[in-house]
Amino acid sequence: MTYRFRWCVTAFLLISPWLISAKARAGIQYYPERKVWVLQAGEETYAFGVNERGELQAIYWGPRIARDADFLSARSRPEVASFDLSTSTTPQEYPGWGAELYNEPALKATYADGNRDVVLHFVQQHIEGDTLEIELKDIASALEVHLYYRVFAPAGILQRWSRIVNRTDQAITLESAQSAAWSLPQGDGYGWHYMTGHWGAEWQLHSEPLQTGTHIIESRRGSTSHQANPWFAIDRPQQTTEESGPVWFGALGWSGSWRITVEQTAMQQLRVTGGFNPFDFGYRLNPGEQLETPPFYAGFTNGGMGEASRLLHRFERQFILPGGEGAPVRPVLYNSWEATEFDVSEAGQLALAEKAGKLGVERFVIDDGWFGQRKDDHAGLGDWYVNPEKFPHGLKPVIDRVHALGMDFGIWVEPEMVNPDSGLYRKHPEWAMNFPGRPRTEARHQLLLNLARPDVREYVFQWLDQLVTSNDIAFLKWDYNRNWSEPGWDAVAITDQKKIAVEYVHNLYDILDRLRAKHPKLEIESCSGGGGRVDLGILRRTEEVWPSDNTDALDRLTLQDGFTHAYSPGIMMAWVTDVPNGMNGRSVPLKFRFLVAMNGSLGLGGNLNKWTPEEMQAATGFVAYYKRIRPTVQRGALYRLIAPQGSEFSANEYVSTDGRQAVLFAFLHSQRFGTPFPTIFLRGLAEDAVYHVQAIDPGQVQEIGSASGAYLMHHGIDLKLRGDYDSASVVLEKQP
Ligand code: GLA
Repeated sequence: MTYRFRWCVTAFLLISPWLISAKARAGIQYYPERKVWVLQAGEETYAFGVNERGELQAIYWGPRIARDADFLSARSRPEVASFDLSTSTTPQEYPGWGAELYNEPALKATYADGNRDVVLHFVQQHIEGDTLEIELKDIASALEVHLYYRVFAPAGILQRWSRIVNRTDQAITLESAQSAAWSLPQGDGYGWHYMTGHWGAEWQLHSEPLQTGTHIIESRRGSTSHQANPWFAIDRPQQTTEESGPVWFGALGWSGSWRITVEQTAMQQLRVTGGFNPFDFGYRLNPGEQLETPPFYAGFTNGGMGEASRLLHRFERQFILPGGEGAPVRPVLYNSWEATEFDVSEAGQLALAEKAGKLGVERFVIDDGWFGQRKDDHAGLGDWYVNPEKFPHGLKPVIDRVHALGMDFGIWVEPEMVNPDSGLYRKHPEWAMNFPGRPRTEARHQLLLNLARPDVREYVFQWLDQLVTSNDIAFLKWDYNRNWSEPGWDAVAITDQKKIAVEYVHNLYDILDRLRAKHPKLEIESCSGGGGRVDLGILRRTEEVWPSDNTDALDRLTLQDGFTHAYSPGIMMAWVTDVPNGMNGRSVPLKFRFLVAMNGSLGLGGNLNKWTPEEMQAATGFVAYYKRIRPTVQRGALYRLIAPQGSEFSANEYVSTDGRQAVLFAFLHSQRFGTPFPTIFLRGLAEDAVYHVQAIDPGQVQEIGSASGAYLMHHGIDLKLRGDYDSASVVLEKQP
């Protein structure tokens, strides 16, 4: 045996158990004799089977159980009393509302003949690569439900959705069509985390014990909403912390009205059901028609809330966001909105572009006000021609200069809206969402275009396509500044009018998909008066989001912390704006504003004409610093070291994907009683590696120069921060 051959054999023997276990960890197994499926993804196992009645029944969701043979056939649970029959005590994977069911149904339907009973039994299954399809059918009619399970094995995430097909000879109206029901291990002692908010105050994280009852988060507004976000996490508060313990988590990929129902039954069964919001829902399926529900993604970890977020972040970057892991880093952006509001002009924008270019900005964006007769928010939405008084030579001179300054060009649009004071509305009043003969409620002086209409969809696609084709536009900030009211659609039969809830969103996705296909380099930001439309559906079609119109750096710390529970920090556009901040009159130092914004995708949104030479110089340094650390922030692993909610200080750390760089951000909100800033214990470093430690302001970190990962994580580092709104950032470079 040559040395090399011997080495290969040894290496194979060493590696092969790992290979085998990695293989066993991944994928979908079906055991026909037991009618059991076992799905293995990352550190989670998900198992379910067909019970003796023919129902699909949840068996297990939790930490990995590698021995598939442990999962025996599903057996229904016994009845508890005549008030709780077995149908309700058995955790079904996708219960129809029928027989005796008191839990949240996944499907509720009314047939044209008046029948409202749906009982779904297993018919057949099919496995194709990473996707399992299971066909269920109603026991007495040809109503079919196809359930899909896709396993993202290395990411540790499962995706579920359903397709409901009417193969009967009569119309069936679906009144609730959910994507999936996820059952957790029976018992109590659970807690849950969810996010609510309002304009300027999105991403407020709540953590509560789960008591018996039904807990709902939802949007009835036609879009994702500021008020709640379609994400949940369930833990065991007695065991789970930021750093360890069980967490079951999930998020819906839908940008319309949605609902997530968390049910803790009196029998201590816990399940999470999510999909289209059944409120004002009615989707009629004629014979042969079908409806697909949105994807509902979920995962499990024993690594606490922090690891649950990191799993989601990685999954989003690999499988949800456009371009996947090969996507370029997010550019440093300048946006003129807070500087000029609607008062945009060629000369004004050029002056700002000159300054932005000097700071190292890579993308220049003109916000609202450039089109139609748009002087304020009363008029112009719908008329997407360049305003000739503001830009007498069109956009070209600005775009050319922006390019010459080394930046690409982006522009604001709000394609789904119309002002009654617009040429478009005067020509097509019937395109606005409305109930004929009823008032049309205006919000910000605007109405919604009914995107469910094919003619509106085509109009919107055409002008966007033309705008991007005839100008060198790299980026659209796609805004959406109100929620639905009077959601009528009188152009279709009365029986189909409620389909607006679904068709509107399908057409929105269709426009985005076609636009992106035709302009593959175009990047898009999802904005809705801040973070009103952030979800895993829109994120398949947009590179970044605007998380909040609130740009006050102190408030942002809390908003950003909430945001990262569900979404990757790299997609979160974060501007440095002027002080006192318009939201609350607060003034915080430029450095604090920059370091807060560096925890996302850095942008500048101040009036650069008013920045002093010293501020310009400092900003140039901050932009350069951000470029040095941005792959780590945008693609690395986030460790939320100290949460900002209710605290006088906070800290975040990011570790790059290759482990070579880590970046720490620390914020002292307001020092009290001279108490020193707490020692920071870093995380995610290699114990034995040595890191070079360098603070953005060298005097702020104790003079250690370099230290081992073990020292940095266990002894920690002390930062010199004092007073109000002090901040620090430290880069740790792993030495070879
Ligand atoms: C919304 C956005 C802002 C800005 C304005 C323009 O509020 O969130 O960033 O674009 O619209 O009207």
